[in-house]
Amino acid sequence: MKVAVLAGDGIGKEVTAEALRVLQAVVPKSAALEIAHAPIGGAGVEAAGDPLPSATLELARKSDAILFGAAGEPGDEKIPFDMRPGASLLRLRKALGLFANFRPAFLFPELADASSLKREIVDGLDIVILRELTGDLYFGEPRGVTNEGGERVGINTMRYSESEVRRIGHAAFRAARMRNRKVCSVDKANVLETMQLWRDVMTEVGTEYPDVELTHTFVDAAAMMLMRNPRQFDVIVTGNVFGDILSDAAAMLTGSIGMLPSASLGSGRLGLYEPVHGTAPDIAGKNIANPLAAILSVEMMLRLSFDMQEAAARIRRAVSAVLAEGYRTADIYEPGTKRVGTREMGDAMLAALR
Ligand code: IPM
Ligand code: MG
Repeated sequence: MKVAVLAGDGIGKEVTAEALRVLQAVVPKSAALEIAHAPIGGAGVEAAGDPLPSATLELARKSDAILFGAAGEPGDEKIPFDMRPGASLLRLRKALGLFANFRPAFLFPELADASSLKREIVDGLDIVILRELTGDLYFGEPRGVTNEGGERVGINTMRYSESEVRRIGHAAFRAARMRNRKVCSVDKANVLETMQLWRDVMTEVGTEYPDVELTHTFVDAAAMMLMRNPRQFDVIVTGNVFGDILSDAAAMLTGSIGMLPSASLGSGRLGLYEPVHGTAPDIAGKNIANPLAAILSVEMMLRLSFDMQEAAARIRRAVSAVLAEGYRTADIYEPGTKRVGTREMGDAMLAALR
């Protein structure tokens, strides 16, 4: 089990340290876990003058799974795009062909009151946003800022090929077959040609899965439906940009973005696992970040890259146990619960696992 740990910047370092302790606690000795650390993001710039150092990319390629923390630093906006620490993540996803980004939004019953929505709306919530991760406005050409008639013009291109839509479509239907057999494809086909193609291809792929219900929704309506009645969804499949936005919104249904793990997969075995939250520079280095999203990312790693279902289930049960015991980091704290720091939440997890 070769795991590359790319902790990165901000709270990435703190939450990854706790996730790693949990990983080491649940994997049996016989599985021969091999951990290797490498710098990425601001840490990569510091170590090798590149947010994605070639040695880091090499290590990632040779691994079975990557545990990623977060990358990016305040003030990034002033540096050229490909040198920005945050861009290291985009380059890594693209270089490794990790096109399918699973972002589950799952409510632990103990956190129903931490959600910004009413308990009766989110109780029992269990949906997955499947975000296409290597196409769309993020990577389309042409791009850049040019000069036209004496003023600056910014250009990005929404682009999807049929094969890109097809492969994420198949991933969505396969995921739905292991869940409640419903796929909602989210697009903007009323306005954008790219998204009409997206809808047409999704419909074609859908005919191969007659046992799965396929619906189509425009992204604006999908945003509304997520807030009004999120439990109507099972698997939401959408493009890179819409998925970025909707997954942050869905995170809040679960109480905190600090609870949300993710898995990015390609057509091979390699997977990248990361919390959805990012670097959170305002709270970095203060031992207050919630490590549960990173810890739940390890759960996804054990399930999806290593098929270690029992070890994964132990993590899920331990998270439920620490929440039931009342442990809360600042982001999910409510009066009457026990407020703890990042490290202490990790300690509570280890105790629960024992
Ligand atoms: C995410 C993040 C990234 C993205 C940023 C850090 C580039 O917001 O993983 O959702 O936009 O994909
Ligand atoms: Mg995002």
